[in-house]
Amino acid sequence: MLAIPVDRMGSLFRKNLPSVNRVFIKTYGCQMNERDSEAVAAMLRGRGYRIVATEDDCDILLLNTCSVRDAAEQKAIGKAAHVLGHRRKNPDFILGILGCMAQNRGAGLLDQLPDVDLIVGTQKFHHVPDYLDNLRSAREAGVPIGQTIIDTAEEADSQNTIRDHLESETQPVSAFVSIQQGCNMNCSFCIVPKTRGDERSRPMEEIVAECAGLVERGVREITLLGQIVTSYGRNRYAHAGGISPFVQLLERIHAIEGLERIRFTSPHPCGFKTDLVEAYGRLPKLCEYVHLPLQSGSNRILKAMNRPYTQERYGEIVGALRAVRPDMYFSTDIIVGFPGETAEDFSATRELFAAVNYDMAYIFKYSIRTGTPSAERPDQVPPEVKEERNQTLLGLLQENSARRNQALLGTVQEVLVEGPDQTGQRYTGRTRGNRVAVFEAAPHRVGMLAPLTIRRASVSTLYGELA
Ligand code: 5AD
Repeated sequence: MLAIPVDRMGSLFRKNLPSVNRVFIKTYGCQMNERDSEAVAAMLRGRGYRIVATEDDCDILLLNTCSVRDAAEQKAIGKAAHVLGHRRKNPDFILGILGCMAQNRGAGLLDQLPDVDLIVGTQKFHHVPDYLDNLRSAREAGVPIGQTIIDTAEEADSQNTIRDHLESETQPVSAFVSIQQGCNMNCSFCIVPKTRGDERSRPMEEIVAECAGLVERGVREITLLGQIVTSYGRNRYAHAGGISPFVQLLERIHAIEGLERIRFTSPHPCGFKTDLVEAYGRLPKLCEYVHLPLQSGSNRILKAMNRPYTQERYGEIVGALRAVRPDMYFSTDIIVGFPGETAEDFSATRELFAAVNYDMAYIFKYSIRTGTPSAERPDQVPPEVKEERNQTLLGLLQENSARRNQALLGTVQEVLVEGPDQTGQRYTGRTRGNRVAVFEAAPHRVGMLAPLTIRRASVSTLYGELA
């Protein structure tokens, strides 16, 4: 490849604009955002754009953003400002801001980032190729659009547009499938109902067809994605014999021959009724790993958060799942320092946290999100208290995770071989409990399930030998 200084690119490409088509997408936030980015990349590739692996090589930079905490927004804004400061020297360079922060802030972003070219909300990802085509042809014709393209409107059935996958030369082993967009839960701390809109589910047939197509291409593990996957299809499909639409979907996907493993994220504790708990007993492809957001272990705080369950009910769900699958692994989301959280409330969280013995947890310090009910509360918790509580839970998590990994020493765990690790010397895969494992393997084992004897363990990684 030619090494051309960035500030000379403009004059070179202006003569030959169609080559201004190398896109890099940088993603912030959750797996849903990762999946949206992949779908946008696949749509762009279908339109003749090139998806490049490093930011330095791109002519078009798209930031797919997160709003869930203020820090995530500040990070993306800082990045955009830095990029505009440096790359605007190239007049053909295009910067787009997509996703949750684009939705949350819309045209307000122009106060800080007046030179951004494109602001596209969460229901409009599938229009990105059109907007980029427009921007490029306007520049080619020498009549730059002169203002930012902003599209953050709602769009009916936009949930059905996140379906394209990037094909790559290396065999994909594990894939994410979006089954639903939006959220109707109204937790008092959360911006997601604003950024993602009302809960909308995709048709079951389309999801099953997408999964079957992925399996045909070599995928062995599928993770179903949505803001509240357990409420999948509730406005679209009826319960059948006490089985919810979400469990019906799991059954349909389970029947796909060649698929080995099913996971999903994120569920809501309220979605763990008997039908889902029992599904773990009869659907062996359903991995014994559940991400079950707790948020708080204090009933008083759960109520203030508008989370309709108690610590007792949460404990019951964990117990019921462990009764069906004794080796069940749990991860969770916790918020420390929600407004009004006292030392006593936090103790309740800490106790439940220790009792569940989580293998993984995402611990967040409460972040004020303008427009949410709890943002207005006068009893905000001081930052140093949040930090202390954060550290307490992180310490517990490290202990749990290390203990749990140590207990696997000498056991044989099933791994799905995903591919070479970062060094290229060894291979990586995940256990059914979602632990990363590193081992030596022959290339032909990629995409296969294999028994791994665990020889060594760090807090987060297992090391072993394939049988
Ligand atoms: N402050 C801190 N954490 C938050 N989350 C959602 N909103 C906030 C907020 N305002 C966390 C929750 C959620 C996860 C995705 O982000 O734990 O489950």
